[in-house]
Amino acid sequence: HGHGHGKGLAFGAIDPQPVDVDALVVPEGYTWDPIIRWGDPILPGGRTFDPDNQSPEQQAKQFGYNCDYLDILPIRPGAPSRGTRGLLVSNLEYTNAEIMFPPTEKYWDIAPDGSRTKNAYTRAIERAAHGMAVVEVRRRAAGTPWDHQRLSPYNRRIHLGTEFVLDGPAAGSDLLKTAADPTGRRVLGTMNNCAGGTTPWGTVLSGEENFNGYFVAAGANPTADARYGLGSSTSYGWEQDEPRFAQSEGYENESHRFGWVVEVDPYDPESTPVKHTAMGRFKHEGANVTLSRAGHAVAYMGDDQAFDYVYKFVSKDRVAKGDSRWARAHNKTLLSEGDLFVARFTGDSPAAQIDGSGALPADGAFDGTGEWIPLVKGGRSRVPGMSVEEVLVWTRLAADKVGATKMDRPEDVEISPVTGRIYVACTNNSGRTPGNATEGATEANPRTHKVVGGATTNGNRDGHVVEIVPVGDQTSTRFTWNLLLVAGDPTVEGTYFAGYPRDRVSPISCPDNLAFDAEGNLWISTDGAPSSSAIARCDGLFKVPVAGRERGHVQQFLSVPAGAETCGPLVDSRDGMVYVNVQHPGEDGTYDAPDSFFPDYVAPGVRPEAGDFRGPRPTVVQVYRPRR
Ligand code: FEO
Ligand code: CA
Ligand code: CA
Ligand code: CA
Repeated sequence: HGHGHGKGLAFGAIDPQPVDVDALVVPEGYTWDPIIRWGDPILPGGRTFDPDNQSPEQQAKQFGYNCDYLDILPIRPGAPSRGTRGLLVSNLEYTNAEIMFPPTEKYWDIAPDGSRTKNAYTRAIERAAHGMAVVEVRRRAAGTPWDHQRLSPYNRRIHLGTEFVLDGPAAGSDLLKTAADPTGRRVLGTMNNCAGGTTPWGTVLSGEENFNGYFVAAGANPTADARYGLGSSTSYGWEQDEPRFAQSEGYENESHRFGWVVEVDPYDPESTPVKHTAMGRFKHEGANVTLSRAGHAVAYMGDDQAFDYVYKFVSKDRVAKGDSRWARAHNKTLLSEGDLFVARFTGDSPAAQIDGSGALPADGAFDGTGEWIPLVKGGRSRVPGMSVEEVLVWTRLAADKVGATKMDRPEDVEISPVTGRIYVACTNNSGRTPGNATEGATEANPRTHKVVGGATTNGNRDGHVVEIVPVGDQTSTRFTWNLLLVAGDPTVEGTYFAGYPRDRVSPISCPDNLAFDAEGNLWISTDGAPSSSAIARCDGLFKVPVAGRERGHVQQFLSVPAGAETCGPLVDSRDGMVYVNVQHPGEDGTYDAPDSFFPDYVAPGVRPEAGDFRGPRPTVVQVYRPRR
């Protein structure tokens, strides 16, 4: 019959793993395999990965580094299940040169004292390791593991040299023009692609997140440069290679051409990916789209920075039904024009009851009402003193002016396919301090630095998850909200699991990426738990029902290897398959002294042979119950 085991994804929660456990730990009865790793060749001319003979040309033909967003789409747009052929789409967020490259003169300028800096050749490899990948995958039957296809006409690498189109109201504006692109409509490349979302019409959205780290501030707009975190130098050093990264004369606007939501059509490998200016420019974690009753595309987006905002975009046009060529072409224009909003959360409990400890107020809930405040509506700016183009390029400055609510690093924002409720992962924030009217505790972000027993706690180090309930349709500007989880060590006060008994949940810290299974359970992957001192454990993937008696019952499904963050995730409960991207395994190690040998383990202490690199490699992983 070919439908897995028909029993969904029943599992017993695993134990949290100490931070030095270099293993992917899955529940009893499950196993895991890599689908594709950094360095695996996917394009013609790509050779077997060899770290001693890496080149920019080879890296551009291989799967890149630090996989983040993940989906596997059916090979035909709109097909009801993944079947036996699929298109794996992955973001490739950033690079870790100290782990990727042997400490040789091929890759580094080595000073007499032994210190080294990346050379130009290595920086070019880094640019080819960033971006996105599309890779065909195949398997024998549904519910069985996939293999990636070494060569397929669908396979594609997008990197810093790939041409993009800018569209929407800010495209062509003076703020987006450079010496290389006087039209302000064509950009080379994408970077720091973090989370994303797959649209109902079968394209993939990808968030350009920490783009500021790749550019030297041009100086013409110091307020905006400071607000977006551009500095006078970068750790990547690409400003030595291309004037656009230095933002030198003629290229002062280059950084304006990054920080967007990108849309890629994986079904058309020749298509030019698009950067949608209508969706605003900030440190985009990702974007997830649902449809309103009338068929408008409604996208929810987080700006991953402490004290930044949650946004919503509503398309002007409506979706065309079906997956015909015409319908897909129309739907690919939906994110090019529409209204942009930012969220204001208002609590319903007296401020004095929000004491910064995470203890619930007297009404028993962190909750309240909210409003989507328009920034651009009906094609016009709603922000005093800013044009539409300025609102879209400097969206943070616009949102600052309208009374939006400063959140604790909004990461993924995901919509339940069952209820239409919206979930925001606020990953953590060590910067909230007591007694500050704008940056102290609020009901929507209720934890601050707190002196407990003479020691100052680290604010909201464990993060929380907000549940938003639209009042009416997804296009409504009003909502109610509550905190589903106040994460952390469940044995201590100031954590909350939707009222579920705290002695029966898995500890969870630093929620980052979110996904839903077909039954409407929320799955949360974490980033940063190892550095959370109270429950310092490897990052992992957790399931939490959001309805019924099990609401709030957090259970850990897997744990990733030492140093890694859990990305992806993708949960196909009908197929009995779970997929995660294991990002930056062994991030604190070096090539010569690795902290991780994931996924191609060697015995501890055994040095990999030259040309026989055994890890760590960021990897797309599938978890499943093997057939007997
Ligand atoms: Fe790239 Fe916000 O995590
Ligand atoms: Ca309340
Ligand atoms: Ca993330
Ligand atoms: Ca993160």
